[in-house]
Amino acid sequence: MSQASHLHYSARRQQLMSLMQAQGGGVAIIPTARELTRNNDNTFPFRHDSYFYYLSGFTEPEAVVVLVANSNEQTEILFCREKNIEHEIWDGFRYGPAAAQAEFGFDAAYPIADINSIMPSLLSDAHTLFYSNATEPHLDNQVQQWLQDVRAKNRAGISAPAITVDVRCLLDEMRLVKDSVEIATMQRAASISGAAHARAMRAARPGQFEYELEAELLHEFRRNGAQSPAYGSIVAAGANACVLHYQSNQAQIQDGDLVLIDAGCEFDSYASDITRTFPVNGKFTPAQKTLYEIVLAAQSAALACAKPGARYMDGHHAAVRVLTEGMLNTGLLNKHEVGSVDDAIASLAYRQFYMHGTGHWLGLDVHDVGLYRENQNIAEEKPYRRLAAGMVITIEPGIYVRPAENVPQEFWNIGIRIEDDMLITSDGHINLSRDTPKTVSEIESEMRQPQ
Ligand code: GLY
Ligand code: MN
Ligand code: MN
Repeated sequence: MSQASHLHYSARRQQLMSLMQAQGGGVAIIPTARELTRNNDNTFPFRHDSYFYYLSGFTEPEAVVVLVANSNEQTEILFCREKNIEHEIWDGFRYGPAAAQAEFGFDAAYPIADINSIMPSLLSDAHTLFYSNATEPHLDNQVQQWLQDVRAKNRAGISAPAITVDVRCLLDEMRLVKDSVEIATMQRAASISGAAHARAMRAARPGQFEYELEAELLHEFRRNGAQSPAYGSIVAAGANACVLHYQSNQAQIQDGDLVLIDAGCEFDSYASDITRTFPVNGKFTPAQKTLYEIVLAAQSAALACAKPGARYMDGHHAAVRVLTEGMLNTGLLNKHEVGSVDDAIASLAYRQFYMHGTGHWLGLDVHDVGLYRENQNIAEEKPYRRLAAGMVITIEPGIYVRPAENVPQEFWNIGIRIEDDMLITSDGHINLSRDTPKTVSEIESEMRQPQ
C-alpha cells in the first residue's frame, strides 16, 4: 500500500456510504480495470481503475468493491482473486480474500469467482443501485443477470432496486477535493517530474533525437520510484512543438530548435503534468525569447486567478488576454486585420496561435474527474464552478506558430507551452511544480549545469 493507510480508504468508503444513505441507501458496485491484451499473450502493464483504487488502495486486477449501505447497516466488501501458488510462482504475490480483508480494512472479502452467487442476495430489497453503467460492458452483463436473479424472487416478496444512480457522480465530487495524503503524494509526483525536466534540460544537445530526452525523463521517474509516466510523454523539437498531441518523439533535434516537453510521472497512482520549453543549445534567440516571455506572462496572469472563489474559467480568460496582447504587439496578429485586443478576443482570432484550454483538474487521472460547471446536467444556467481549497488544477497556456503568409517569418515553427500543477489553498495556491526551472534565466542557467 502507498502512503495512505487502510484507514484513509475506509474513511472514503464511509463517506460514500453516508452519501448513499442520504439518497435512501442501497448497494454500490465499483470494479477495477480489466487487463488488456497488447499482442498475442502479452498484456499492457496493468493499471487499476482510479475510482476503485480511491476506495480501496488495492492494485490487483479482477477485483470489485461492493458497499452495502442500508438504513440500519454498512458493510464494506472486497471481491478479489484467491491465492494460487501455481500462479504466484509465475506472476507474483496475490493477497487472497483473507489477507486483503485484513490489510485493506474491509468487513468481508470473497473470491471474485463467487461474485455471481453472492451479489443477488446483497441486491435483494436494496433501495438504489449505485453503479456506473456502460463503463465495463462485461460487468454490465453480470449486473443485469444479478438483477434478473433478484426479480425472480418477486413472488417471495423480494424486490430489486427500483433506482439506479451513477456512483461516479458521487465519487467525482469526492475526488475533486484532495485530502492531505493525496496532496503529499501529488507533491512527490510533481517534484520527481520537475527533477526529470531539469535533467532533460541539462542533457540536451543539438543533434540528439527526441527519444534521448524522453529516456532522461523516464530514467528520473523510475530512479525515484514513480511507477510510470502519467500519460504519453511529449518531446517535440522545432515544428513538432506545434503538434499539440505529438508523441512519436523520433525526430532529430536541430541546433536552434526549441524543445517542448510535456511529461509527468505517476507516483502511487497520482499524476503530475508539467510542460517546459527550452532551446536545445541552451540560449533563447530573440524571437524565441519574445514569445516565451508572452506565454510566461500569460501563465502569471492565470496563476493570479488560482484561488478559492475564482471561477474555473477566470484563469483562461486572463491568459487569453495577455496572449492576445502579445500577439498584437509582435505582429503575429495584424491590428489592421483583427482590430483591438477586445476585438481579437471576441472574434477568437487568437485561436490561430492558441487553440486549447488553459488547464484541467489533476489527480488520480491526468485529466481528472469532477464537473467544470455548476448545474452541469441542467439545461439553463451553467456558470463555471468556483475553485475551492483542496482542488488541483493545471495552468498551461501556450503559443504555437505554424508557417503562414500573414505571420512574421522569424516566429514560424515556434511552439511554446508552460504548464504547472496548482493546489488551491484556503488563501491562494501552492505551485506543486515550483522547483522546475521556468524563467528564461532559470532555464539557461540550468542548461549550463553539468549533466
Ligand atoms: N499532458 C496532457 C495535458 O497537458 O493536458
Ligand atoms: Mn495538462
Ligand atoms: Mn501536459
